Amino acid sequence: MIDNKKVIREIGTPTYVYDVEAIIERIKYLRDKLGAAILYAVKANSFIVREIEEEIDGYEICSKGEFDICNSLNINRGKMVISGVHKDRPSIEDMMANCEDIGKYTIESVNQWKLLTDVAKQYGRKINALIRLTSGNQFGVNPDDLKYIIQNNDDNIITITGIEYFSGTQKHSIKKINKEADKLISLIDELQEELGFTVKQIEYGPGLPIFYYQGEEFDEEAFLDEVKLALDRIKEKGVELSLEVGRSLVANAGKYFTSVVDLKSNKNGNFVILDGGINHLVYYGGTLGMRIPHYQIVGMSSEAGDKEGVDAESDAITYNLHGSLCTVNDILVKNITSKKLNLGDVFVFENVGAYSSTEGISLFLSRDLPQIALADGEGNLRVVREVIKTSDINMPRY
Ligand SMILES: Cc1ncc(COP(=O)(O)O)c(C=O)c1O
Repeated sequence: MIDNKKVIREIGTPTYVYDVEAIIERIKYLRDKLGAAILYAVKANSFIVREIEEEIDGYEICSKGEFDICNSLNINRGKMVISGVHKDRPSIEDMMANCEDIGKYTIESVNQWKLLTDVAKQYGRKINALIRLTSGNQFGVNPDDLKYIIQNNDDNIITITGIEYFSGTQKHSIKKINKEADKLISLIDELQEELGFTVKQIEYGPGLPIFYYQGEEFDEEAFLDEVKLALDRIKEKGVELSLEVGRSLVANAGKYFTSVVDLKSNKNGNFVILDGGINHLVYYGGTLGMRIPHYQIVGMSSEAGDKEGVDAESDAITYNLHGSLCTVNDILVKNITSKKLNLGDVFVFENVGAYSSTEGISLFLSRDLPQIALADGEGNLRVVREVIKTSDINMPRY
């Protein structure tokens, strides 16, 4: 539970807060609803990985940096799937030398397969791997390469357990998900018929969507019922199915708090300067603040009180919300209407649990990175990252 006033009083802004209980409930909900194991795509938000360890079935880890975070937090390595389009030799050597208990690797190219085989041999390891099937971009391998790897693989070093497939995020077309299920089913059949290879596991990233903007309507339950039917068709092939999910697991459980630090007007409108900006806040599809996300305003000055809506036409003032970067593109939202704002009022943006803290252009202008706190079921807060000065990162060393 996130108590907005408590966050502002105890921690201040700019801050992200993640509701751990909500994320755990979400894992259970998606697993029950979709009837598949749920793996967490760490890239969506690396700050909650330890909190969910008991509940989550696994972690999809896409870089050495993500591995180092999870490993330093003592995440069960059996739950890790080491994925990623670039697996460099020193990183793989480090993992294989020091961690023989890593659950699985993915193979994203013929070269990666050779590298994994080579390094595993070097350290006397036997590893499990999934081959990532491409969706036509730089990720994964084409079906011919996939078959080549299966045919030429030395089972004594790499056991290929199945296939990974992820074609993109924010998929709300059930037609697309059904097409992807068809593709996987045909491939499973083809590999059996042509190569006598049995696919035991499918790790599929359905790219489940989040609806971020006011006025959007989405019947998630009905959508997930349809997704389940597609997934059931894959499961009928006798495979173990797991889903790699990022956005849909954590987006709804995060809030971003940012304060009004300046107010001004000119012939083009009323401008609010916030102590955050597009370096901290990323809404998928939200370019130049044209669409309005869900937010609340908590008034800090004594006469302001909460400003969660506009009572009367006469109260309504139109504002543009801007961050603190040196670019005209630092627009969080355009044309919101609110009661009169004051310095110190706090905007609380919702649905920022996925990708905001990890995807923002956070080094721009050497602005500090926000604090990050976790909220428990009672609203108690624990700061898990203090402010980080990016001037340390952007400074040349002589
Ligand atoms: C391989 C892979 N799996 C899973 C995900 C998570 O996607 P989403 O956040 O849409 O669930 C991503 C996101 O980029 C990805 O690259």
